[in-house]
Amino acid sequence: MKTIRFGIIGCGLMGREFASAAARWCHFNQMPAKPVITAICNRSEKPFAWFTENFPGIELVTHDYKELLASDQVDAVYIALPHHMHREVYIAAIEAGKHLMGEKPFGIDRKDNEAINKTITENPDVFVRCVSQFPFFPAVQQIGRMIDSGELGRIISVQSGFLHSSDMDTDKPINWKRMVAYNGAYGVMGDLGMHACHVPLRAGWQPKNVRAILSNIVTQRYQAKGSTTKVPCETWDNATLLIDTQDPKTKETFPWMMRTYRMAPGEKNSWFVEILGTKSSVRFDTRNPKQLEYLKYEGGQQIWQSIQTGYDTAYPTITGPIFEFGFTDAILQMWAAFIGELTTGSVPHRFAGCVTPQEVTQSHKIFDAALQSHKDSSVVSI
Ligand SMILES: NC(=O)c1ccc[n+]([C@@H]2O[C@H](COP(=O)([O-])OP(=O)(O)OC[C@H]3O[C@@H](n4cnc5c(N)ncnc54)[C@H](O)[C@@H]3O)[C@@H](O)[C@H]2O)c1
Repeated sequence: MKTIRFGIIGCGLMGREFASAAARWCHFNQMPAKPVITAICNRSEKPFAWFTENFPGIELVTHDYKELLASDQVDAVYIALPHHMHREVYIAAIEAGKHLMGEKPFGIDRKDNEAINKTITENPDVFVRCVSQFPFFPAVQQIGRMIDSGELGRIISVQSGFLHSSDMDTDKPINWKRMVAYNGAYGVMGDLGMHACHVPLRAGWQPKNVRAILSNIVTQRYQAKGSTTKVPCETWDNATLLIDTQDPKTKETFPWMMRTYRMAPGEKNSWFVEILGTKSSVRFDTRNPKQLEYLKYEGGQQIWQSIQTGYDTAYPTITGPIFEFGFTDAILQMWAAFIGELTTGSVPHRFAGCVTPQEVTQSHKIFDAALQSHKDSSVVSI
């Protein structure tokens, strides 16, 4: 099996998730290539011990991302840095000829995203994708196949979203994700928005205009753990968007409601999608990770059915199809999509691919329009 040598830049929460997925590659039945971590880069020293103890293939440990990008022991990079760093480091990686899996929002704002896109266009031999793992849940793969088959009929409405609740704790100190300088003016949309956009954008549905209500509910937070000083917390906690959307195949339009909330009582990383159609309707929520709800309308009684989806994945694994699927499995499947497409140039079907730079650009247009819409109380064209 071919080996792809990876460098990780940003060894925090998500850097470790990728490393763990790479360590579990034996889980797949048939992959054309496998990732091996050869280099890591992080600002602080703290995470290095965990990586070097668990990954004997690491040859380079550095605080300087430029040193990692200059290494001939690295073919591809996973960059999981705070948003204000995306532009500089993604551009440097692409210019160094390293294939790139970059974290969302892929540039702190639209201007930074456009700068990254320019570099992608200038370096067509570099393979670039953006992280978004939830569509790899088996239920969502099934929804993708239903969209492709046309069995939903005319789309009546779409809802998608991503809900968190840990910010309900007002004693939780501020961190970079709650600071405009590091997370961006998008606030919660920069953090959770790409996840909520992935399925509708992959379906090819075209956002036409946006009306948005953005909420900053907790306006101050403690400076640090144990501190008694509070500092301003200026990022948007919750974003509620109503997007007039067109199905390009039929030219018919429908409302797409998108909710990305950090203040959603009771919700713990709940990602959901609901598509109502004239022939069939579907909905899925990671609250019930193996349940796909489905309603087929053929006249008569309208009954929501519940399908147990099990471990029926886009990329086959050793796990039996009756078993449960979760967050780390979705991460593993997403990485299979990246490695598979990088190696073979294709994915098994359209919903089994990672987010493309074009889709990221569309997400930025939506978030940018949402900021404007909220500011002016207006409907903003995309
Ligand atoms: N896909 C997902 O579900 C998901 C979940 C959380 C975060 N994210 C995204 O992942 C990215 C990182 O988020 P995270 O939660 O892992 O953050 P984190 O704070 O846990 O990790 C970021 C790491 O980057 C390091 N760092 C900061 N500046 C650096 C520099 N100049 N050079 C080298 N290292 C530096 C920090 O020391 C830290 O270890 C963000 O883009 C975020 O939106 C994605």
